[in-house]
Amino acid sequence: MTVLDQRSTADLVRELEPVAARELERHLATAREWFPHQYVPWAEGSNFDGEYDGDAWDPEQSRVDAVSRTALVVNLLTEDNLPSYHRALTDTVGRDSAWGEWVHRWTAEEGRHAIAMRDYLLVTRSVDPVSLERERMDHMSRGFAGYAEGNVLTTMAYVSFQELATRISHRNTGRHTDDPGLDRLLQRIAADENLHMLLYRNVMAAAFELDPDAAMEAVLDVVEHFEMPGNEVEGFTRRSLTIALAGIYDLRIHHDEVLAPVLRAWDVWDRTDLGPAGEAARERLAAFLTALDASASRFEDKRAARAARTASASG
Ligand SMILES: [Fe+2]
Ligand SMILES: [Fe+2]
Repeated sequence: MTVLDQRSTADLVRELEPVAARELERHLATAREWFPHQYVPWAEGSNFDGEYDGDAWDPEQSRVDAVSRTALVVNLLTEDNLPSYHRALTDTVGRDSAWGEWVHRWTAEEGRHAIAMRDYLLVTRSVDPVSLERERMDHMSRGFAGYAEGNVLTTMAYVSFQELATRISHRNTGRHTDDPGLDRLLQRIAADENLHMLLYRNVMAAAFELDPDAAMEAVLDVVEHFEMPGNEVEGFTRRSLTIALAGIYDLRIHHDEVLAPVLRAWDVWDRTDLGPAGEAARERLAAFLTALDASASRFEDKRAARAARTASASG
């Protein structure tokens, strides 16, 4: 049995509740109200085929390139599966106390993301509305079974990384679209994801103080098994490769901009409070990151070689 199993999630949820309460207060004082409808260029809209006998969607109408469409659809479908994420969180931290208050508030904020993105993409005819709806049905029907759920330490570690990954993915997608309105909207959403990351990261920092060995084991577990929440989306692997080749989200970003800064914030490398189990987990974590860094470099090299081949073929 690992240290991680020795302390029950119920005990930890109770012990971390004052931290969740403090962080919720801080979040509410920091978060700025915003309105999705103000980010959408409604005047550009027109009727679709069907009930209103307008024009069906055609790829020619899209103002963004195919790579942007892939990233936008994956990001939106990921946001769409919110009911399952809510279920996973409440199954882990409950619906009572500051935890429940936070999860409901977080759900309300996340709900805005899919609303705003869908409104923008449909009004501007940026993506295919029929396949988007079919994919939403398919994705949500699959549900979501998070690897980390059920244990408050792995859950808090997972969401710390995932919120930051989502922030960067929205931010870089916005830049890639070359559409100023979409870029502004995705920046606004990314700012929300950053505040979510901060709350979870601070709760996890408190967990490290409470039980450094169990926290370290949880972090190792999550880093080794990390997958984005949208991994249940049909064709996710193929689409992730497109997104990585465009530099929107790749292993280099995952290593340098997601894992490394969050691990540093938990003082993972310099902690002096670890027992043998925590030390062993830290060593494995260091080895995993070294290997990931090497894979990231190999991918960058391959991508550069591929770009050079394309350039010489076309030039
Ligand atoms: Fe979101
Ligand atoms: Fe978020």
